[in-house]
Amino acid sequence: MNALHSGIIALAPLDGITDSAFRQIVDEIGKPDMLFTEFIPVAGLSKGRTILLNGLVKHVSETPIIAQFFGKEPEYFYNAFFIAAALGFNGVDVNMGCPDPSVVRKGGGAGLINDPETAKKIILALQKARKDWKKGKKISDTDVPDNIKQAVTKMSVGSIKEKMTLSIKTRTGFDSPITEKWIGELLETSPDFITVHGRIFTQRYAGRADWEEIQKAVKLAENTKTKILGNGDVHSLFEAKEKMEKYKVDGVLIARAALGNPWLFSDAIPTLEERKRTILRHAELFLHYRPELDLRPMRKHFAWYCKQEMGSAALRKQMMSVVTLQDLRNVLEFTQK
Ligand SMILES: Cc1cc2nc3c(=O)[nH]c(=O)nc-3n(C[C@H](O)[C@H](O)[C@H](O)COP(=O)(O)O)c2cc1C
Repeated sequence: MNALHSGIIALAPLDGITDSAFRQIVDEIGKPDMLFTEFIPVAGLSKGRTILLNGLVKHVSETPIIAQFFGKEPEYFYNAFFIAAALGFNGVDVNMGCPDPSVVRKGGGAGLINDPETAKKIILALQKARKDWKKGKKISDTDVPDNIKQAVTKMSVGSIKEKMTLSIKTRTGFDSPITEKWIGELLETSPDFITVHGRIFTQRYAGRADWEEIQKAVKLAENTKTKILGNGDVHSLFEAKEKMEKYKVDGVLIARAALGNPWLFSDAIPTLEERKRTILRHAELFLHYRPELDLRPMRKHFAWYCKQEMGSAALRKQMMSVVTLQDLRNVLEFTQK
């Protein structure tokens, strides 16, 4: 798959944002090389919380899509692999970078940077799952709870993949950069790729991403089978290509710059009309994937779309009170369905 070629440009995972509807919009407009789901807790899946499967609903697409999970129990990651495989994902990514205190306190996300032994056990459990899956083991043969198994069989999957990648997304350190030590530990388990976000845990999303640190990971992985993707503060395709040239990363993940800007991946500047049509399509897709909801959760997207050129301040204000599709059509002045 593309992820293993050099020069990949992907939409990064963003919790609460890169849901099926947003991924489909980005995919239709910009066709990035790879997409990620939002992160999903493996513990919840292994305890039968079917609501979490909402995060694993795939949009119809040929673009490789990776299911991202977080947690710290290797056996739960083993199960999660079979869920992702049964749903036709192209790979499983382990979140080892989330700075949310509720995740880190329990030892997951960036907490794993302080616990490399558990981090390695997680990757080894996933390697074992992949081996067993290749030998023919299926979700039905695992101890994934029955209600999750049943829900998974009812979900639309597209085609089941023949190969699945195993990867990690992490930071350069916890309270100081320890890129060589930390990435060196991860490389021992030979993941297919590691995405390195050039910040440490204590920075959260503040300060500048340090691409010199990312480059240390590139050097370390030079004679291994593991690819290194870089992430942090990339705002355009041009900048992504610049980073690949300068720091020799195998690819770049872009997160915040894509908010309200699915055109980023195609380098296009939409007209006002295209922008409005995209907002409407995004809202329609949101309700298609989440018919039990209304458009209130979409208001953050409306605000991001409005940060770009979107007409008057009055229009922007009206969009913040949209609840139904009809409200949205009225505000955007679409007279027909
Ligand atoms: C609101 C928000 C949610 C995020 N959710 C995730 C997530 O679910 N999984 C993950 O690996 N990273 C997550 N990230 C981190 C981003 O993927 C990315 O690493 C970070 O924003 C830096 O990239 P950027 O400068 O292109 O935004 C999140 C970041 C933000 C701001």
